Amino acid sequence: MTAAHRIMDLLFGRWRSQILYAGAELGVFDHLDAGRPTGAPAVAAQIGADPAQLYRLMRALGSLDLLAEDDSRGFRLTEAGALLREDHPHSLRAMVLLEAGPQHYAIWKHLVPILREGGEDGCEREFGARIFEYLGRDPDYAAVFNRAMTSYSSIQTEWAVAALADEDFSALASLCDIAGGFGHLACRLAAAYPHLAVTGLDLPEVVGDAERLLAPRLGLSDRVRYIGGDMFRRAPPADAYTLKNTLHDWTDEECVRILRNLRRAATGPGRLYVIEHVVPGPEEPHFAKLFDIHMMCATGGRERTAGEYAELLAASGWRYEATRQAAGALQSVVVAGAG
Ligand SMILES: C[S@@+](CC[C@H](N)C(=O)[O-])C[C@H]1O[C@@H](n2cnc3c(N)ncnc32)[C@H](O)[C@@H]1O
Repeated sequence: MTAAHRIMDLLFGRWRSQILYAGAELGVFDHLDAGRPTGAPAVAAQIGADPAQLYRLMRALGSLDLLAEDDSRGFRLTEAGALLREDHPHSLRAMVLLEAGPQHYAIWKHLVPILREGGEDGCEREFGARIFEYLGRDPDYAAVFNRAMTSYSSIQTEWAVAALADEDFSALASLCDIAGGFGHLACRLAAAYPHLAVTGLDLPEVVGDAERLLAPRLGLSDRVRYIGGDMFRRAPPADAYTLKNTLHDWTDEECVRILRNLRRAATGPGRLYVIEHVVPGPEEPHFAKLFDIHMMCATGGRERTAGEYAELLAASGWRYEATRQAAGALQSVVVAGAG
């Protein structure tokens, strides 16, 4: 690829994500299958769209290898397109609706002013509140947000479990996943370590969404308990805590408040596992360095290097031990003990 092609490829990436978003939002993928070709008019009738315009969208989705078009304008789902169906066990549809949807689109438009001025993040500039307060005010956005977190988790949890393969959990009796959403990680850890009593703490409105909680759906209700609460006020006692995609939402000072609460509440051996996109050195291009800019726009938080996590841990009474990463994973687990 020439340098000019490289710029063009980057520049028109937004078109690709918006085409992807339109397909996911309209539910195009839910009305197609991999075996039998379906035309745009049949899909348009199902989802309530203009057939001629929808054909153009589906052709573009074909050009992105999300659909396969035949010579008679019939479309089949590709393997990647199938991941955008709502009913796929590892569906990424909610992630697309969140990250390429109208709220995040609007938040990102503040990037240049944030860079010039510092101060308020894009969510505050756009919606007048930080993200978790705004989520409380906009139930539709909250529904998309929380489902997207579960969607991300289906990949990230496997990376975390693989990174922790050599960790000895035998001395632990209980584990709490802090800010654990609907409980994807909590359920996965409960399944992997049957001796652990597992809890998932999140805001009352999140764990109160009974239909979406994963433990009952996975038959793990007796193993995973949900607690509604505020991690800035109090953490439930546990021998170990996990925090996934959570510290990156907050400033250093806010992270220290959360981590100190966990340190105070920790029982027994007191272990902590922080799962994040850890920023590597300058020699390595990495998704964490891009996600960091999203955090700048969306939450006022940041992605951090292992050294920066070690400093936060030391400031909150934890002792940094190691950063573990499974092969091919984009996230790492920062491991700490009670200091
Ligand atoms: C980026 S999401 C990550 C969710 C989950 N850990 C995951 O990796 O999918 C951050 C989570 O923090 C929760 N949260 C925000 N403020 C909180 C607070 N004060 N106490 C507890 N949870 C909170 C949100 O409801 C949300 O579920």
